[in-house]
Amino acid sequence: MIAKQPRLFDTELEKPVDNQEWGTFKDSLRAPIHNWFTYPAGFSYKAVESSLKTNGITEGQVIYDPFMGSGTTNLVAKKLAINSYGVEAHPFVFRITRTKMNWEIGRTEIALALKEIETQVKKRKGNFNGHDLHAYLTGEFPELVLKCYEKRTLLDLLFIRNSILEGKFSQEAKDIFFVGLTSILRQVSTAATGWPYIAPKKQKTTSIDKNALVEFTRQINKMVNDIEAMVDDANPNYRNSSHKIFNADSRYTQELIPSASADHVFTSPPYLNNFDYADRTRLELYFWGEAKNWGDISENVRTKLITSATTQILRDDPKYDLSEGLQESCPDVYGFLKEAVAQLGEIRLTRGGKKSYDHLVSGYFNDMFLIISEVYRVLKNNTTAVFVLGDSAPYGVHIPTDDLIGKIGLGAGFADYKIDVLRARGEKWKDNPLRHDVKLRESIVTLIKG
Ligand SMILES: C[S@@+](CC[C@H](N)C(=O)[O-])C[C@H]1O[C@@H](n2cnc3c(N)ncnc32)[C@H](O)[C@@H]1O
Repeated sequence: MIAKQPRLFDTELEKPVDNQEWGTFKDSLRAPIHNWFTYPAGFSYKAVESSLKTNGITEGQVIYDPFMGSGTTNLVAKKLAINSYGVEAHPFVFRITRTKMNWEIGRTEIALALKEIETQVKKRKGNFNGHDLHAYLTGEFPELVLKCYEKRTLLDLLFIRNSILEGKFSQEAKDIFFVGLTSILRQVSTAATGWPYIAPKKQKTTSIDKNALVEFTRQINKMVNDIEAMVDDANPNYRNSSHKIFNADSRYTQELIPSASADHVFTSPPYLNNFDYADRTRLELYFWGEAKNWGDISENVRTKLITSATTQILRDDPKYDLSEGLQESCPDVYGFLKEAVAQLGEIRLTRGGKKSYDHLVSGYFNDMFLIISEVYRVLKNNTTAVFVLGDSAPYGVHIPTDDLIGKIGLGAGFADYKIDVLRARGEKWKDNPLRHDVKLRESIVTLIKG
């Protein structure tokens, strides 16, 4: 039986805002450069534009995104000649953003390098004739990758990959090719590799006749055209704007971003919904040889991110005790979470999966407290920080993330906060056998620094 629900806060919610898609990547999928990589965790570039307008942020000012992801905030800033800082802990996602932020790459350099890659791929194919295709691919890739492709297509992808890695190109050109090849990986797969899940047993017949080299060349040409279109459309002063982006941990940015340096923060943290960011890029990490198994992905990615999935949790790690900082600065939040965590600790023992949702909740808010404190430090006075986020109900226990983040903001020093509800959300806790009637929502939390 589920114990009594911990007491909820009674913050008044603002009316829903007009655009329900702001928290999704749909708009960005239709926009040049933004759509180079389909990041299911990304948000709409229109939400960033709107926030900058509402908050009167203009050319020459500075904005910061502590959960930069695929760089939506920073790209919008660059187009408008607004300076930006960005921090992203996932190394693969960071490299995608670094590439999207570089518009200086020349069409001629890319065209010459592309020709060289085409020549190399043809040469490698010629030399390969007579070799055992199955044995060769099995030696190169983990099973997941082998299951996702026709063998001939995978061989082409491998030859393109190696021609990029071994080619004598500039780092910028290599980045463009890295993103270009990454972005066609799921298109040319014959398995159901749509985001976010991969279903190697389901066949996607539309990809059977796709030629990897043709698709790759098409994608690189599209990317070069996208850069030119973006440059034409951008405020010409974008060239004088500065964008300092870091592959780092936004809990600890003292050495990277000066205090009182930003005029606005616009961001979206991982939601508390057990989404494993590391696992969702598994196909890409395996393909590029950046990981070979679960352990590599944990070491290279999972351990670097804030706690937002149970797959990151080692049960006896003391870091999942609610932190002293949170207790001292935000006693009401601490009290609420202590009760919810204790309840989740009891419920998990009654469930088959025994999911560590108790540690997930405490780890998440410990981390968010550190990041919100850092955001407060980085912001100038009389500014705002906007967080797009969702709440959740693990094992049926409602965790009102928007309200808690608002209150943590007050504990970190912010003068006030407000919550706008974006939209109602579906229940995603698939292992929750007791369907609860908690209405989940996606919200915009604005923290106001006095
Ligand atoms: C909701 S996504 C942000 C997506 C972004 N708004 C976009 O449009 O692509 C959250 C991001 O936070 C990153 N992240 C998680 N822990 C982090 C940390 N400690 N420091 C910096 N980034 C982190 C995740 O890898 C993920 O890319």
